[in-house]
Amino acid sequence: MVKRDMKEVITGKTKLFALLGCPVSHSLSPVMQNAALSYIGADARYMAFDVKPEFLSQAVEGLFRSGVSGINLTVPHKEKALPFMNELSITAAAVGAVNTIAVNDGRITGHNTDVSGILRALKEDAGRAVSGERYVVLGAGGAARAVVYALLISGADKVYLINRTVSRAEEVCFDFEAIAGGRLHSLSLRDINVLNGGIDGLVNATSVGLDDNSSPLNACGYDIIERGMLVYDLIYSPSPTVLLRKAAERGALIMDGLGMLVYQGAEALRIWLNKEAPVKIMKQSLLNYLGRDT
Ligand SMILES: NC(=O)c1ccc[n+]([C@@H]2O[C@H](COP(=O)([O-])OP(=O)(O)OC[C@H]3O[C@@H](n4cnc5c(N)ncnc54)[C@H](OP(=O)(O)O)[C@@H]3O)[C@@H](O)[C@H]2O)c1
Repeated sequence: MVKRDMKEVITGKTKLFALLGCPVSHSLSPVMQNAALSYIGADARYMAFDVKPEFLSQAVEGLFRSGVSGINLTVPHKEKALPFMNELSITAAAVGAVNTIAVNDGRITGHNTDVSGILRALKEDAGRAVSGERYVVLGAGGAARAVVYALLISGADKVYLINRTVSRAEEVCFDFEAIAGGRLHSLSLRDINVLNGGIDGLVNATSVGLDDNSSPLNACGYDIIERGMLVYDLIYSPSPTVLLRKAAERGALIMDGLGMLVYQGAEALRIWLNKEAPVKIMKQSLLNYLGRDT
């Protein structure tokens, strides 16, 4: 009889990790998380489920009661999930968004790993200190909130927040006022050029560039981008985006959101399994899947 490697076979003991989003079919998380689970020899699978916002609480409750080992949330669920967590990590509570749910002792805890994800990408991949640096952040959605929080807690000197809907950016400034202590300012896009140099990094946390050839800086031009500055686009596919291409032409260091995606996923695995995740394997699985070299 052929003895099978039990990790390759789904049995009654195989654990499930779930990603809930709407839509979710484009997500690359199953690719990298299953590569990681397989590499570390976990008898577990990671599956994506398309859950409409009105069914989110029932889906989480149903998975939780069915013994799921952990849940990730993506757009549009990250903010809506807050009220039905039993507990929130300090970071998830501060950001106001949950992207990772841990199940322990019959209770569910909401975490936000986007914060450590962007910080690791900025520090390890882009070699930035963050502390004492000045950043422009574009966007005011869930991802932008995580980026702004990450920059502030890491000691950024100034963070200028620019969003199409200015009132949303102002709301973020209001929410983070206590930790910002005067370091966070909302600006309109047309005022971006008043910054006039001295910016170390620009982070695109809008969805502009995701589906077409648009760029969040089309309306104001690219004068803000200077040689040596970091331009980080949270979008990882397509890559490079128009923003990154224009930034590279102006001599900026450019980086897409693949690193952040890997690091936020690695932190989720660490929370669930209490062991370090194989980030190189996860990143390579995505590069292979996307047919990219870097
Ligand atoms: N790399 C990663 O690991 C990672 C993690 C999380 C998110 N992301 C990416 O980050 C992006 C934002 O995600 P999110 O969760 O924050 O989404 P979200 O909550 O829906 O926010 C979307 C943001 O984009 C802005 N926006 C959308 N369409 C626009 C347009 N035509 N012109 C100008 N601004 C526009 C919105 O501005 P308004 O407020 O004016 O609507 C808002 O600030 C997405 O591309 C997502 O894929 C990447």
